[in-house]
Amino acid sequence: DKGTYPFYMLKEIDEQPNVMRKLAQVYLSETGEPVINEKLLNSMKQADRIYIVGAGTSYHAGLVGARLFENLTQTPTEVHISSEFAYEQPILSKKPFFIFLSQSGETADSREVLVNVNAANYESLTITNVQNSTLSREATYTLLLHAGPEIAVASTKAYTAQIALEAILAKALGESDNQIVAQRFNIRQQLGLVATGIQAIIDAKSKLEDMAKKYFLNTPNAFYIGRSLDWSVSLEAALKLKEISYVQAEGFASGELKHGTIALIEDGTPVIGIITQAKTAGLTRSNLQETMARGAKIITITTESLAKKDDDIILPDVDELLTPLLSVVPTQLLAYYTSLNKGLDVDKPRNLAKSVTVE
Ligand code: F6R
Repeated sequence: DKGTYPFYMLKEIDEQPNVMRKLAQVYLSETGEPVINEKLLNSMKQADRIYIVGAGTSYHAGLVGARLFENLTQTPTEVHISSEFAYEQPILSKKPFFIFLSQSGETADSREVLVNVNAANYESLTITNVQNSTLSREATYTLLLHAGPEIAVASTKAYTAQIALEAILAKALGESDNQIVAQRFNIRQQLGLVATGIQAIIDAKSKLEDMAKKYFLNTPNAFYIGRSLDWSVSLEAALKLKEISYVQAEGFASGELKHGTIALIEDGTPVIGIITQAKTAGLTRSNLQETMARGAKIITITTESLAKKDDDIILPDVDELLTPLLSVVPTQLLAYYTSLNKGLDVDKPRNLAKSVTVE
């Protein structure tokens, strides 16, 4: 039931702080240590490489997860689009471990990969929101997202839940292997900061409603740009805008723009820069300037510690590995309000179904 909300999507965006708290409650002990199935951790510890597989938004959550696993566990991690992996399997390492990300647990493209993984006798984990779903039943292990039912076709809380759970799992795995970075990563404190941070963004949503009107209502296209984790979020931000507001949007590695795509920038093209990583903040700012010189209208999404005078959206600081949990939220709201202001059916965009059970 969506209660007083006009659309499920807004309700589900609003639920994200609670989803973060719920995951901490389910997967962390009273002292803040991860509580993860020992067998699962042992299987993962034996792996020489992690393969994350997913589609759409779940694939995007996997891109962030790969950074978390590599940073906290030092295990090389690859991310693959399930429909590609199914028919063009990369050369696997000696001891691969597979993680399937799927909100619904029913995505046919991902299942096709799992069938092959099982046929080869490799171990796997499904991270899903739906207990007893196909991908959950057929994988060796399951971790549930506990995000509550996600009804809107556009995925929001499942994305943030997937990233938060990947972070908890990476912390557990890294710690069990005595990785110092993992030991120092205070997951409980961070998830608390993330929950209050998301709430602060939601509380200031009227600003995003105004920005959606000003920048997106009458544009045929838009760009989200960023580097590393900010690029991963750019892909998700662009997907949200495309699927519910029908604005053609591209998520782009900001350094790659000048190698061709910058030709598309015209007078008034909205370019949104996501700037949450200290190492690349200055570079993305230069890339934004390059688009502005060609007429782009720029919007910046950044963190308190990286903020400059004219920035538009300023996120509270959290560990740099977890900034996607915050930076995605304004982009969800921008997509929501653009769709709403166009008078579209936010929850049921054209041509789409909530779970895609055909290949
Ligand atoms: C986008 C969206 C889709 C799904 C994709 C995978 O908002 O919802 O891109 O993320 O179809 O679905 P699951 O996660 O159920 O496997």
